[in-house]
Amino acid sequence: MNDHERLRVLIVEDSEDDALLLVRSLRQAGYEPDFQRVETEPEMRQALETQEWDIIISDYKLPGFGGLAALEMYKTAGLDIPFIIVSGTIGEDVAVDAMVAGAHDYVMKNNPARLIPAIRRELKEAQLRKVRRQAARELAYTESRQKALLKLYQMADASREEIVGFVVEECQKVNDSELAFVGLISDDQSVMHAHLWSNRAMEGCAIDGKPMVFDIKKAGLWGEAIRQKKAIVVNDYEAPNPHKKGYPAGHVALARFMAVPLIDRDRVVLIAGLANKKDSYNESDITHMSLFLEGMWNYMERRKAEEGVKVSAQKLRRNLIGTIQVISMMLETRDPYTAGHQRRVSALARSIAQEMGLSGDVIDNIRMAGNIHDIGKMSVPAEVLVKPTRLSSIEIQLIRTHPRTGYDILKVADLPYPIAEAVLQHHERLDGSGYPQGLKGDEILIEACILSVADVVEAMAFNRPYRPALGIEVALEEIVRNRGITYRPEAADACLRLFREKSFRFE
Ligand SMILES: [Fe+2]
Ligand SMILES: [Fe+2]
Repeated sequence: MNDHERLRVLIVEDSEDDALLLVRSLRQAGYEPDFQRVETEPEMRQALETQEWDIIISDYKLPGFGGLAALEMYKTAGLDIPFIIVSGTIGEDVAVDAMVAGAHDYVMKNNPARLIPAIRRELKEAQLRKVRRQAARELAYTESRQKALLKLYQMADASREEIVGFVVEECQKVNDSELAFVGLISDDQSVMHAHLWSNRAMEGCAIDGKPMVFDIKKAGLWGEAIRQKKAIVVNDYEAPNPHKKGYPAGHVALARFMAVPLIDRDRVVLIAGLANKKDSYNESDITHMSLFLEGMWNYMERRKAEEGVKVSAQKLRRNLIGTIQVISMMLETRDPYTAGHQRRVSALARSIAQEMGLSGDVIDNIRMAGNIHDIGKMSVPAEVLVKPTRLSSIEIQLIRTHPRTGYDILKVADLPYPIAEAVLQHHERLDGSGYPQGLKGDEILIEACILSVADVVEAMAFNRPYRPALGIEVALEEIVRNRGITYRPEAADACLRLFREKSFRFE
């Protein structure tokens, strides 16, 4: 123990002489007592309410008051400092009662030699209890911090507001602070947009208009954290500090304060401010806060990147659709007989997919595949495409290359899966009788199965170079006849329902 250690002593004693005697022995023992003597209940209450004490030394019997009553008040106040009874009148049995009631020790006034060792021992014990309490509290903090961090990393689907709100509230909670805010720093490092204040900060704040944008140049302590790019901790807000600029009238009173900046590529991007923790802010508070800000920043950056990807994907898709439409138009100029064929197949295939209850993406892919499914006919000589008479077997073979050629063209364009594959398979048949691969059953993509039904119905319903239109009824009879044989039943049924029950018509 240091020489002249300052000791805040509350003395409950009606005799001023006895109190001074006690103070003198404390001085002799090397303490520097900062003491107050109280002898009534109101005096004691006031002393407990207005000041912090290191030890209470109480007489046992006072006129109108006593050691046990003082002990009760000490317990009600929730203190854990040594409470020692010093008395000339106390008997052994009463002393034991006092110990049972919660006093740490008792010393007879006629045995002053025992007093100082008792005080030393009890102060040490109290210090140990305090350290243990702090350690337990730290452990509890650590646990709740880890849980909160884990939760933060699991909030992948939360909105930005939810994330920021969670960060602010959790930081305040797990750092045991009364107040918290998180601010976003502008790119030029000139202003801070207070993103969110903890609910408690908002309740206690009476500043007019509650400003949300702050000039960093004019800011005091938290501004310093941004300027110095490091955490600032002030555990005694009242003490002089060159960077402190105070706070506006109506602001919640500050006792302790901590500001932690988050730096990304040498630029402060976020700042968190916490205030009025019960204990001092320490290194682990800074670490924890930094981790939290980092989690929040990663989340915000990821969201920004996702938004960017979404926008460019949409752009890419729009460009692609435009290109596909141009290619389709080119094809139709070479082959006037099939003009409009792809467009009509696309419309019917899309309706079939919808009727089957497929997802939006699948429907979209089917629509796009329909629009270009015969693109491979580009490489088939025009005179074969428009030949009004029966085709020779070589000409048939030539025509049959179009799914593969289409696939090869589309594969280069990197279209969303499985547009190219659906084009490759649109002449495959459920029973393996189709081309080019002779796939069977489930080997054929659902997209291709739908396209093949729509393709056949359209082809039979409209004119072909080699024959006039057969009409929609003949086309539907073909689907009924080969349902489950060459056409997938669900696709065939959906197509039949569309025409027969839902009055689908080709435009
Ligand atoms: Fe085709
Ligand atoms: Fe076709």
